[in-house]
Amino acid sequence: MRKDQVPVADDVPKLPLIRAVLKETLRLYPVLPGNGRVTQKDLIIGGYLIPKGTQLALCHYATSYSEENFSEANEFRPERWLRKDNLDRVDNFGSIPFGYGIRSCVGKRIAELEIHLALIQVRTM
Ligand code: HEM
Repeated sequence: MRKDQVPVADDVPKLPLIRAVLKETLRLYPVLPGNGRVTQKDLIIGGYLIPKGTQLALCHYATSYSEENFSEANEFRPERWLRKDNLDRVDNFGSIPFGYGIRSCVGKRIAELEIHLALIQVRTM
C-alpha cells in the first residue's frame, strides 16, 4: 500500500498481520478485565456443580496469560494468530476480549475496523 493511500475495509483482509497485532494486543491488554454471566440452569463444569442463579466471572487476564492456553503467554507474539503458523489455535477461547454469544460486544466489528485502519496508517507512515 502506498503512503498517500487511505486504507479502506477491503484492504484489511490483505494484511493478516494487522489483525494479528490487534488480537495479540487485546489478549495481553484486554479493555475490560472480565465478563460476567448469571447461570440460567444447573451446570456441571470441570466436575463442579454450579447451581442455577450463580454469578460467574471470567477474568480475561487469567485466561489470556495462562500457559495452558498460549505458549510463551507473557510474550507479545502476533504471529501466533496467523493461520499459516498455527502455533496457537486461532479459535482459542483463552482470549475473548469482546465476549462471546448473543450478549457479546455489539460494537466489535466497528471497533476492529477502526483500529485496523488506524494501524494500517501507522504502518505506512
Ligand atoms: C476495543 C473495543 C471494545 C472492546 C474490547 C469491547 C468489549 C466488550 C465486552 C467484553 C463486552 C461484554 C460482552 C459479553 O458480556 O459477552 C461488550 C459489550 C458491549 N459493547 Fe463493546 N467493546 C469495544 C467497543 C465497543 C464499541 C465501539 C461499541 C459501540 C459502538 C460497543 C458496544 C457494546 C455494547 C452495546 C455492549 C453490550 C452488549 C449486550 O449486553 O448485549 N463496544 N463490549
